[in-house]
Amino acid sequence: MNCFQIIKSVLDEAYVQIPGDEAEKDEVINDALEYLREEYSHLSQECNINYSDPTTRFAYIYAYVTSHSNLVCSIIQQNNFLGNLFDNKKVDVACIGGGPGSDFLGILKYLMTNKKSPRIKFQLCDREKSWAESWSDVDDKVEDLEFRISTSYLPLDVTKRDDWESHRKYFQSDLFTMIYFMSEVFSLRDSAEEYFAHLFNQAKTGSLFLFIDNNNSEFYNWFDQLAANHKIDILRSNETNMNVPFHEEKSDLGKYFAKFSPPKLTANVAYRIGRKV
Ligand SMILES: C[S@@+](CC[C@H](N)C(=O)[O-])C[C@H]1O[C@@H](n2cnc3c(N)ncnc32)[C@H](O)[C@@H]1O
Repeated sequence: MNCFQIIKSVLDEAYVQIPGDEAEKDEVINDALEYLREEYSHLSQECNINYSDPTTRFAYIYAYVTSHSNLVCSIIQQNNFLGNLFDNKKVDVACIGGGPGSDFLGILKYLMTNKKSPRIKFQLCDREKSWAESWSDVDDKVEDLEFRISTSYLPLDVTKRDDWESHRKYFQSDLFTMIYFMSEVFSLRDSAEEYFAHLFNQAKTGSLFLFIDNNNSEFYNWFDQLAANHKIDILRSNETNMNVPFHEEKSDLGKYFAKFSPPKLTANVAYRIGRKV
């Protein structure tokens, strides 16, 4: 399976939703790509990215989902702690800040590449509801899917207690992914910390955590500290450079690759795999 081909079909739908003729669309997309680059350059100081605009969502999927989904797949592939989980008949995954789809697309790629077919349920927990439009029918987009996946959205804002405290079911998940999420709320950690403490406390014994983020000690120290305080054993800890694999053909992104600056293809990441004791 090739993530870029699936992403291209999601981009085609997203492109139609952007108002204007082709030149106008491309201009606002280029602005949005620049806006995201700029915002991500100072995440430790502040972050208030608004993904409700279809142009920003297009830009994010084009530039970042491409990379992040491949990171997720490669890290699962390299770590049996995670890979073995998908030998179970049934697996529930909660993707915290997973609205854009990278987390579940990466897992899907791992499953298809390794011919594993658990009954799998994804809960995408994210404050931006409009991401749901991009991924609600993803199983129709993957032609050779031999198993059933279900994705549902759980709209919640981790900085607002009133928003998150009534949701409890997803604490029973087998895996929690936090992919480039803690950096996004790092500048709001005074309000977000309580959520993470609650999540780590309520997760069931034996559940796994996958944290991937920028290789910045401010971000991974935050995760490590929370893990240490809330009985999450760190099974694997790494800081490294990773590339999008060669089999992902940039040309699969079609006309978008020709029009816009290339998506993120290399990443300097820190990742952690944890298990609730
Ligand atoms: C950088 S994206 C990461 C998305 C995805 N995991 C990935 O790696 O591509 C951050 C996500 O966090 C969501 N988000 C930002 N602040 C949030 C908050 N306070 N509560 C819940 N979700 C939030 C955004 O809507 C966005 O989807």
